[in-house]
Amino acid sequence: MIEASLVGRRAFILENTRLQAPPHTPELRLHLADEITPIWTLTEEALAEIGLPPPFWAFAWAGGQALARYILDNPAIVSGKRVLDFASGSGLVAIAAMKAGAASVLAADIDVFCEAAIGLNADANRVEVAFTETNLLDAPPPAVDVLLAGDICYERPMAEAVMAWLGQGRAAGASVLIGDPGRTYFPKDGLAKLAEYQVPTTRELEDMAVKRTSVWTLP
Ligand SMILES: C[S@@+](CC[C@H](N)C(=O)[O-])C[C@H]1O[C@@H](n2cnc3c(N)ncnc32)[C@H](O)[C@@H]1O
Repeated sequence: MIEASLVGRRAFILENTRLQAPPHTPELRLHLADEITPIWTLTEEALAEIGLPPPFWAFAWAGGQALARYILDNPAIVSGKRVLDFASGSGLVAIAAMKAGAASVLAADIDVFCEAAIGLNADANRVEVAFTETNLLDAPPPAVDVLLAGDICYERPMAEAVMAWLGQGRAAGASVLIGDPGRTYFPKDGLAKLAEYQVPTTRELEDMAVKRTSVWTLP
């Protein structure tokens, strides 16, 4: 049984993941699972009463890998700026932003494991990332300079809500960058493509070994 505490969740992550480099950002190290089914089953078994979502935090998703790559290669986008990484998962994009010289990064995710996962992953890369479990979609985006979101369009209601919310942030003056591997609910209209990558992934996760993934901005 997973102890229902941050310490318990950190121990669970350390026990069931391996510190490894996401293929598209080899300069970073994250505690990631090698296969989705065993860790999903383990978390479901242990926390069945909570009705657990998939362990997104245990993988570096193609959209996040592309966005992190773009930020690492174009540090001026975040350098010296206040950054929010929405739907942070493992914290990959947030960590890339800190590595690229952001003044501060707030990682937001509603998954109960993310605080532990992002904390461990930030430590592994020797950066500090603030974290919130609050559902930020319930209010306009906080005052930041840059809004980042990796792989957020895999479900229609979430995609629609996040895109509208990011639009609010853009209207308030923030730069907005999104990483997306062609998910069904990603709306290309009104967005400008900044980069395209071939991101290695796994057949188990995505049913293909490489996913064409783009980084977009709201002009
Ligand atoms: C496919 S994962 C992407 C994670 C990471 N950005 C990446 O690319 O590796 C989607 C993430 O969205 C998070 N999420 C879903 N709804 C959310 C919400 N309302 N606020 C914050 N995060 C949310 C999930 O918990 C999950 O970690």
